[in-house]
Amino acid sequence: MSEIRLLPDYIIDKIAAGEVVENPASVVKELIENSLDAEAYNLGLAIENGGIRSINLVDDGKGIPAAQVRLAFARHATSKIAQETDLFNISSYGFRGEALPAIASVAIVELITCVEGESQGTRIVVEGGKETKFEAAAPRKGTSVTVRQLFYNTPARRKFLKAESSETRKITTVFSKYSVCGFNRSFTLTVDGNKIVNYPADRDLSHRLERIWGDKISSKLIEIDSRPSSAVHIYGYICRPEINRANRNQIYLMVNGRPIYDISLMHAIKAGYGNTLESGTFPIAAIMIELSPDSVDVNVHPAKTEVRFIDERYIYAQIKKLVEAAIQTPVLFTVMPGAPSSSPMTGFVKNRPSSIWPQKGKSEPNQEISIKNYRHELASTSVDSAPSDIDNPEIPTEAAIEMKIGGHRFWQLYDTFIMGFRDGKVWMIDQHTAHERVLFEAALNNLCERPGTSQRLLFDLTIELEPSDMAVIDKYLDLFRRLGFEIEIFGNRSVIIRGVPAYFQGSSIEQIFHNLLDGFIDSLSTGEDPTMALSASLACHAAIKSGERLSQEQMEGLFNQLFNCEDPYHCPHGRPTVATISRDDLDKLFKRK
Ligand SMILES: Nc1ncnc2c1ncn2[C@@H]1O[C@H](COP(=O)(O)OP(=O)(O)OP(=O)(O)O)[C@@H](O)[C@H]1O
Ligand SMILES: [Mg+2]
Repeated sequence: MSEIRLLPDYIIDKIAAGEVVENPASVVKELIENSLDAEAYNLGLAIENGGIRSINLVDDGKGIPAAQVRLAFARHATSKIAQETDLFNISSYGFRGEALPAIASVAIVELITCVEGESQGTRIVVEGGKETKFEAAAPRKGTSVTVRQLFYNTPARRKFLKAESSETRKITTVFSKYSVCGFNRSFTLTVDGNKIVNYPADRDLSHRLERIWGDKISSKLIEIDSRPSSAVHIYGYICRPEINRANRNQIYLMVNGRPIYDISLMHAIKAGYGNTLESGTFPIAAIMIELSPDSVDVNVHPAKTEVRFIDERYIYAQIKKLVEAAIQTPVLFTVMPGAPSSSPMTGFVKNRPSSIWPQKGKSEPNQEISIKNYRHELASTSVDSAPSDIDNPEIPTEAAIEMKIGGHRFWQLYDTFIMGFRDGKVWMIDQHTAHERVLFEAALNNLCERPGTSQRLLFDLTIELEPSDMAVIDKYLDLFRRLGFEIEIFGNRSVIIRGVPAYFQGSSIEQIFHNLLDGFIDSLSTGEDPTMALSASLACHAAIKSGERLSQEQMEGLFNQLFNCEDPYHCPHGRPTVATISRDDLDKLFKRK
């Protein structure tokens, strides 16, 4: 074994950077925390190329005295704590004195700062941990930090970064969380030169949440406020379960004003919703927990996003109980289904064809919108000529199709599976995965070959979106249009939807759209091709769910369309869609053979 030696500082900084600087969003987090600690009132964040090219935060906080600017880049140098006991009574975001040196060891950092009243400011540039400039600057109160070319000297780390849109999204999530903590300060966000967020200082938390989440979510918020003991205060807002999200990004949890990521407490919130939330969805909530600093340890991880409570189970139980009680609160004003409504939320469709399903009372599938017909045109195949057997495609016989049980050709089991006959076999279809496959192939065809037809909505639907979602929509607008969305960008916070793909199902188009977008963005972040990502997300979120009761015609429609797919046997995620039992299987089962 080689000799034990102390590592040089620049390697130690890079090791620290590994823990503190995971991606551009973690840089943004550290910079915002520093500005808030410096009591800035205005924070202006600008990012380019998902923060990979540059991140700039300008604040009007206290600034750093010229004599201390170099120290700010020294490891374990902080103005926020002085002695050991301070560690157990932390009231600032920062305290470890390592964020700036860690960031500067893996990027090019320029800091310009000036303390109020000083005749001149200071400009310092640190590249990969080495100071390359130190000079006087204009006397503008506050601090501007620019971080360029993140991970330029650690290519292995750079490779772990996701697509720009995904990094932008992570940044806007961090930005939103801190703008909630600092609701009484002004925050702006500029992405690639476009100012997409401009929050003036708000007088209370609910106003800031309204800006972030928009009117629709805000109209469904329930306030919570409880002091379960003299040392604990839990308050904030949770959204009614009918509006939810496909991921946890809209769960804001703050402990003593610090945004934290605590999977157990997120679980407590979700548990409080019980079964009012659709499975696979997550609530929208902003919950603040205040407790004496000595009953929570914030020094658990260098990123300071995790905390340790002295009594985690107690906090878990209190949050769950509070959410449970809040959900029971009756809604005072709500638009009843079927009632005349000017709200686009209902997504009511003018002359709405029954999408991919045959229209009620008609035995023939709707010719204009059926995917069966669509695919027929495209691939010159139809249900009648579709493969009828997994191993040996052949045309189904009339006799096979006519087989019935109790007068029906199809049976729905547990409102989840469809049983039918084809080619002398019993076929079991999982209605959700099967429909996913059908929609996936249709969407893929729309995107790659021929744009999908659209069904017009009776009322235009305005959907408010997160700034990061807007950036994605803007970039991929054409793909959405090819799917059949008649969609336009409206201002910098909303889209207007006038029409949806012909096969779109479900009453809450807005909810489906949100989930579809979330799924799309999540897949983009894993590097998936946008066409595949969008097709799969549309399929997943627009497909019929298990638990939905289907008519004979609907079952038949799905059954036929599935067998007209290129791969009828798997959903886009690879789960099986069908299972069969043949006469032979039954004979073997009952030992006839
Ligand atoms: N925007 C800012 N305005 C004023 N002072 C700042 C600003 N950013 C950094 N500083 C000063 O530089 C010091 C070092 O910042 P750095 O983020 O590295 O450490 P920290 O905030 O003390 O602790 P942590 O590593 O936990 O963030 C801070 O303690 C603070 O005094
Ligand atoms: Mg800091």
